[in-house]
Amino acid sequence: ELGGFPHFMLKEIFEQPETIRNAMRGRLDREQATAVFGGLNLEPRQLRSIDRMVLTACGTSWHAAMVAEYMIEEFARLPVEVEYASELRYRNPPMSPLTLLLAITQSGETIDTLAALREMKRKGHRSLAICNVVGSTIAREADGGVYLHAGPEIGVASTKAFTSQCVVLALIALHLGRLRHLSYEAGLRIIDELEALAASVEKALETNDMARHVAGRYAGCDNFLYLGRQYNFPTALEGALKLKEISYIHAEGYPAAEMKHGPIALVDEHTPSVFIVPQGAVYEKVLANMEEIRARGGPVIAIVDEDDERASQIADEVIRVPHVADYLQPIVTAIPLQLLAYHIAVLRGCDVDKPRNLAKSVTVE
Ligand code: F6R
Repeated sequence: ELGGFPHFMLKEIFEQPETIRNAMRGRLDREQATAVFGGLNLEPRQLRSIDRMVLTACGTSWHAAMVAEYMIEEFARLPVEVEYASELRYRNPPMSPLTLLLAITQSGETIDTLAALREMKRKGHRSLAICNVVGSTIAREADGGVYLHAGPEIGVASTKAFTSQCVVLALIALHLGRLRHLSYEAGLRIIDELEALAASVEKALETNDMARHVAGRYAGCDNFLYLGRQYNFPTALEGALKLKEISYIHAEGYPAAEMKHGPIALVDEHTPSVFIVPQGAVYEKVLANMEEIRARGGPVIAIVDEDDERASQIADEVIRVPHVADYLQPIVTAIPLQLLAYHIAVLRGCDVDKPRNLAKSVTVE
């Protein structure tokens, strides 16, 4: 069942090249330079008339929603709001009838996400769901949806579901973009990038030894910071959550530039900062943020592109991943962050697949 892996979490991390391919299979349409889905149950005309999207989820799925906010903004120029389902269910946000709700959930059974979906449906909004578990309650109750096809996720810490959610959300952003202003050429470029992604994830898995080495150096620390900007701000949140939930180490994810507004006071020689700093739109800016941490004596672990020179000079530890377009960076950089959390938890003797106080799906409020 474990296929030679010591834990489900590690097995599921290593499944990601395959699960990413599964998330795209049959959904890329080169001829139209777009993504296609079987179960949206919405006409192109209805999708075009959407004036806003509300994305709702919990935990790791909420991080995927945050990545999608940037994707949909970039490709489709649609206003997007990301709401914790536990907050949305008790709020009464003003929403026009043309607002589309998108619920994101691996299990399809998370009670807050279900309640938020029901509340929005009751108000007459159209709804879509991105689920992994086929036939789950949320998959059945949403008006339409997209499955991840990632296979069962058994480790309590979500890994492959997160990267598959990001892939499906990129496909949705492409689809919405092509209904609006995104050109045929831009659509084709995105399809090329998506088709090359699984190979990049495969390469990112080669960081396993390096992640184990870095884990060995810092597994005794009691506090970690995870820092990134733009697309990699949610990645930072996700990296921190992975570490917290399986190793019981306090970790905070932050947008790197917000550090100087308070949290930088936490930095000392025992508090490592994990920077997600691949080359892209905000690379230079993140380098400056890394220097700020260095100047205060904090150890810096950097997730960088394979040919990076500048970030790797500032950092104490460097983990290299293949270069991909900005919107795909959360997927590729998630891999070493998952591996780092995994190895730290193993070194600390934690029960990686069944962390204390946690359940795989949260079906009580
Ligand atoms: C974190 C984790 C949880 C879930 C959250 C939502 O690793 O697994 O934060 O992401 O409970 O679960 P789903 O996606 O099933 O709604």
